[in-house]
Order: sequence, then C-alpha cells, then structure tokens
Amino acid sequence: MTKNINAIILAAGKGTRMKSETPKVLHEIFGKTLLGYVLDAINKTDLVDKSFVIVGHQAEMVEKFVKDNCENASTILQMPQLGTGDAVSKVCPHLENFNGEVIILCGDTPVISEKTLKDFIEFHKSKNSDLTVMSAVFDDPTNYGRIVRCGEIASVDNSSQSRYLKSRNDVLAIVEEKDATVEQKAIKEVNAGIYCLNWQKIKPAFYQLTSNNAQGEYYLTDIIAWGGKQGLNVNAFVLADNEEIFGINSKAHLAEATKMINKRNIEKHLENGVTIVDPGTTWISSDTEIGADTVIFPCTYITGKNKIGAKCFIGPFAHIRGEVELGDNVKIGNFVEVKKSKIASNTNACHLSYVGDSEIGSGVNIGAGTITANYNHFTKAKNKTTIKDGASIGSNSVLVAPVEIGEKATVAAGTVLTKSVENNALAVARAPMRIVENYSDK
Ligand code: UD1
Ligand code: CA
Repeated sequence: MTKNINAIILAAGKGTRMKSETPKVLHEIFGKTLLGYVLDAINKTDLVDKSFVIVGHQAEMVEKFVKDNCENASTILQMPQLGTGDAVSKVCPHLENFNGEVIILCGDTPVISEKTLKDFIEFHKSKNSDLTVMSAVFDDPTNYGRIVRCGEIASVDNSSQSRYLKSRNDVLAIVEEKDATVEQKAIKEVNAGIYCLNWQKIKPAFYQLTSNNAQGEYYLTDIIAWGGKQGLNVNAFVLADNEEIFGINSKAHLAEATKMINKRNIEKHLENGVTIVDPGTTWISSDTEIGADTVIFPCTYITGKNKIGAKCFIGPFAHIRGEVELGDNVKIGNFVEVKKSKIASNTNACHLSYVGDSEIGSGVNIGAGTITANYNHFTKAKNKTTIKDGASIGSNSVLVAPVEIGEKATVAAGTVLTKSVENNALAVARAPMRIVENYSDK
C-alpha cells in the first residue's frame, strides 16, 4: 500500500570541517553511516514510501552507499551546489505528478529519532498544514536560521503580493544568520532543517526561489515566507529534545553525537532489564538487541548489528564487532573479541579469545586464549569455524579455518588444529612433553 509520503535527504554539501577524504554523510558511528541513521529513522516510521538522497560532493561514493544499502532510496545529483532550495528543486522532475506529502531532512543529523519524525508528521496532518518546519529553542542560536513569528494579534502582512491575516505567533519567515538584523539574531527559536510539505502546493516555490541574499544561494528556508504570501497554512513544530537535530560538521561533533546515541541506547537497555555496571565506559550500538538480565561489565564496546540473549555475561573489556548472535546464558569474558559469529546458549568464552566467522553450539567451552584463525592473508578469504554442542576447546588453541569440531569433541590445550575433529574424539597437535633431567648441568 502506498503511504503517500516521500522523503528528500540533503547530502550534497562539502563538509569541509570534517577534514576528511570520506564524504561527511558516510562517516560512521558504531559502524553505521550518518546517512544510514537518517534513512533508518525514516524507514522505521513506516510512513514513507521512497527517499531521494541529493548528492554532489564525492557523489559516486554516496551513490554507491545508497545503491548497496538502501532498498527504497535513490540518489539525485545536484551539480553545482547552489543552496538547499536548489537541492530540493532537483527532485521536481521526479515528482511531477506526486500528490502527497514530502518530508525534507539533512543527511548529517544522525540523532533524529523515528518517534520525533512520526510526531512531526502527525502534527503536520493534525494541523491540516501545508508546510511545517521543525524548530527548536536554543540558548545559543548562532549559525542557525531564526524562526520569525508574527508579533501582533491579527496583524496584516502588507507585502506587495497579497494581504493575508496573520495572528500572533504565526510563522512568517526563516532568516539566516548571515542575513539577520540585530533584533532577529536575538531570536532563540531556530530552524532545525526538517520540513514537511504538501508537495503540489509548495512545489511552485522551487521554481520561484531567488538567490538575493548574503550567501548568494537558493535558500530552502524561503519557502516559509513564500507559503505565507500564498495564503497557505504554515506551521512550526517545536522540538522538545534539542539533541535530536544535532548536525555533524566536525570530528568533534561526530564524537559528541556518538555519546548522545550511546546514552540513548544504554538508557533503552537499562529500561529493558539489562544490567550495565558502568554506563560511562560501555558502548552499545543502536542495532544491538539484548535480553533481560544480561550483565554488561565495564569497558565493553559493542558495534554493528547484534542480538544478545538473556542472562549473558559480557566483559569487562569485551569487543563485540557486529553480526554476532548469542543465545541465552552465554559468557563472553575479558579481552574476548567476537565478530560475525553465532554462539548458542550456555557456551563460555571467558578469557582472551578471538572468535570470528564461527558457528558455535551450546554448552561449549572455549578455553582461554583460543583463536579462530579465520583469515587467509593471500586469498583474503574469511573461513568458517564450526564447533558443535558440548565440545571443549583447550586453552591457547589455534583453530585454523575452515575447520569443524564435532559434538563433545576435545581439542587439547595448545593445539594448532588444521583438520576437522569427529564427534567425541580428542585432537592433540603439539610436541609431546618430555623432561630432560639435570638439564642445567650440561
Ligand atoms: C540550514 C538552514 C538553516 C538551519 C540549518 C539547520 C538553509 C538556507 N538554512 O543551514 O536555516 O538552521 O540548516 O541545520 O537551508 N546541501 C545540499 N546542497 C546545497 C547546499 C546544502 O545538498 O547546495 C545540504 C548539505 O549537505 C547539508 C544541508 O543541505 O546536509 C544543509 O546545508 P548547510 O549548508 O549545512 O545549511 P546550514 O547553513 O546549516
Ligand atoms: Ca549545516
């Protein structure tokens, strides 16, 4: 069923202050790109059919990311970049006859939540709004566009084009910092850069924008005053949580956003009954599920997409690197790194191990210092290690993948395992121990 809402994500800008060869929107937080966060938030609302990502600087890289990762998104090239209004105008030919709503966001605001987007769209609909802008009130509004509201009751807009009755607090315009008067600069309500609009009613604006402003750009923000002059219903949705519109312009911002996202994730897991001993030193990605009564010890870093069962013990100093699935009651102890592996319930890897590209059954004991040697440096292949239920892997073993260890099989401590082991068998691969008497006398 079509939802009749499309999204436009602005991502053509340069991001100079990142000082990076990577396009700004492809910087990552917990293994997920900034653009990925925005697209995920949109998709999770379940209200949007299709997203158009406007690309420009380092367009090929962003195009490839969208093509490889986002099913219902496509890219549109904006070259050269003449401003946010120009960016949106590039979508016009693609939505010529589209008869629904369009939401516009920036690709560099990863903290935005699906809940806020839902509330925003809901607000737009409930007001029967033609154009809604998201705003926030900042103590320090520097650099943001300011929301200019009508100051008088039922004042009249005497612009040359038309006369429309305005009532107190109606949104009249957005004025950019560089174009603002001293009085306007004092306004603390700012433009969050997120809009919802009735496409057919607002679309003509994109053919009429001009660049008569301090930056010589076509400003998307000018659609607000345009809408008012057309007698359209223009509203602002004031955001309660300012953090959500935090935009990334530098590496310092990236670090700050990582903290914000982590804090939210930790709060969610605590709420769900996960014990997190030290939230201050624990890092958990947004795409990690954790069952109740699991305990996460300090200095644990969990990135990427993972599913961790209930009653597990993770850390201290554990590293879960993504595509990890743990059953219930699994122990991943100190200095254990796990990547792209499935580990069934009641299995322990308590100390100093690397488990990668593995499928491990239940009731397995992975001895201290066990390494799955999964990577062939020359072929670049990642090979799989399979360990069946009840197997015991002795300490300091190297499991040279591809290799399979049968049910209840034992791998003796210190083994370099290069062949598979049958069920119930013992594998030992090390020189037999010998004692040389009076060795020091020789
Ligand atoms: C913009 C708003 C400002 C608002 C702020 C919120 C305008 C004119 N101003 O300012 O009111 O408070 O966002 O963060 O819109 N982009 C393109 N093509 C372009 C220019 C920009 O795709 O030609 C993209 C950028 O990559 C970025 C987004 O649009 O993702 C915003 O552009 P930016 O230049 O950062 O606008 P601001 O000055 O922050
Ligand atoms: Ca910006």
